[in-house]
Amino acid sequence: MALRIGVPRETAAGEKRVATVPDVVEKLVKLGFSVAVESGAGDAANFADDTYRAAGAQVVGSAAELWGSSDIVFKVRPPSLAEVGLMREGGTLIGFVWPAQNAELMAALQARKATVLAIDCLPRQLSRAQKMDALTSMAGISGYRAVIEAANAFGRFFNGQVTAAGKVPPAKVFIAGAGVAGLAAIGTAANLGAIVRANDTRAEVADQVKSLGGEFVKVDYEEEGSGGGGYAKVMSEGFQAAQRQMYADQAREADIIITTALIPGKPAPKLISAAMVQSMKPGSVIVDMAGEQGGNCELTVPGEAVVRHGVTIIGYTDLASRLAKQSSTLYSNNLLRLTEELCKTKDGQINVNFDDDAIRGLTVVKQGELTWPAPPIQLPAAPPKPKPAAMPAPAKGHGHGAGEPMSGQTLAIVFGVGALLFALVGLYAPASFLSHFTVFVLACFVGYMVIWNVTPSLHTPLMSVTNAISSIIAIGALVQIAPPLDAAGAANRPNALILGLAVLALALTAVNMFGGFAVTRRMLAMFRK
Ligand code: NAI
Repeated sequence: MALRIGVPRETAAGEKRVATVPDVVEKLVKLGFSVAVESGAGDAANFADDTYRAAGAQVVGSAAELWGSSDIVFKVRPPSLAEVGLMREGGTLIGFVWPAQNAELMAALQARKATVLAIDCLPRQLSRAQKMDALTSMAGISGYRAVIEAANAFGRFFNGQVTAAGKVPPAKVFIAGAGVAGLAAIGTAANLGAIVRANDTRAEVADQVKSLGGEFVKVDYEEEGSGGGGYAKVMSEGFQAAQRQMYADQAREADIIITTALIPGKPAPKLISAAMVQSMKPGSVIVDMAGEQGGNCELTVPGEAVVRHGVTIIGYTDLASRLAKQSSTLYSNNLLRLTEELCKTKDGQINVNFDDDAIRGLTVVKQGELTWPAPPIQLPAAPPKPKPAAMPAPAKGHGHGAGEPMSGQTLAIVFGVGALLFALVGLYAPASFLSHFTVFVLACFVGYMVIWNVTPSLHTPLMSVTNAISSIIAIGALVQIAPPLDAAGAANRPNALILGLAVLALALTAVNMFGGFAVTRRMLAMFRK
């Protein structure tokens, strides 16, 4: 018999999200499941009961009925102990669980002989798992919303403007921590026209910050901040002191600070001191996204917006829920992708397959047995970096006879044969051919040297530039096809072979030219907003 998926109304105070939206209900039904939704579950996210009914769900009146009749329950927030009490013995729960923080809940779920898939325990480093990565989808929304909250509390425009009524300078936004949420905040603030600066302890994010329109501010202290798996580690005392100095400078300048810095399993690093808040201009705004983990700012009150020293400090912990429709849609898509992985047979049954690394990582309790934490995943070792000495020497060596890849002997043979050919051409070819030939050989040599030195990532733009060269070829071919008239006004028709070659050259260059234009257009479109 097909299993029944139940979607209860979220009971945590202020939570507006719902674990499944009507569009996803339809897809779950196609996978063979029956779906039940508690009446009013989607109200706060603007999904009415009727839209669930239309999508093929059964709407049930009470939480007790929903939990009691469902084989699998989809949730957003971790369930309360009372909700676990309503759960079917041996049932399955899928949602955020945070096992490290919720020992009592974990014990209750085990006692219920439940199978629990904690979406927060997904091994995010697996590229296959990205479609199920609810941490990322929620962090992206929160980062966006943090900027909107800041804009709401800030008394000025984000973009600079010159108007008849006066000149407005652009707002300066500083983002602490450029993970998923921080990057979303950088992109949003930059799109609104602010000057955006950002810092992170992981140096590898500098390029991502730049690509989103921000400027990466470095701490003047050499220390690698990666703690493995794309996450940060606690930094040394020396680094922290240098970082405090830099943050103090940024705080004095910034109008808005958005902090997102987190270290897994540790309290959030305190980055903004009370003194830094005091040094900010009155009317400035801080949005502290790390409120739930203790906050990045000393003066944050988690869940609230407070004014301290004239600065509004926003510590909301429900940023994703404040965009309930969007976050519910993305979250339920993440759960749908997970369900597809669990139900490959599309027959409304699930298989919690421990041979699948993603499923293994997610499963924190299996039929009442604690299976958390999952053993670390053995990722295939990164290919060893080639030793610099073993790399082929760059172009300089080529043609000069000093290159690494060719042995001295081979090079001597190549040069010998080349010289012999030149001698033969010089002896037998007509003088006019010789001058063209010399130019041709030199052009080949210069062209080769130039292109060989271009970094591979620039080959596409380079190809688009070869349009210009193609047009010279096209003109040459046209002259061959329709040669100028002679003195008597008669056309000098070329012979068939030359005509054929000219037409072929024209056809090939046309492909190159129009292809080049198309590539250039696409490249330019990538930079247009
Ligand atoms: P997070 O929410 O744990 O941390 C947010 C950011 O704060 C991180 O970038 C961290 O480096 C930074 N941070 C920590 N301590 C700091 C300090 N003292 N000062 C300044 N910054 C500090 O991280 P999140 O956003 O959940 O993910 C972090 C990274 O993990 C992502 O940027 C990504 O590179 C990686 N990731 C990789 C995935 C994959 O491989 N498929 C999927 C998801 C994330």
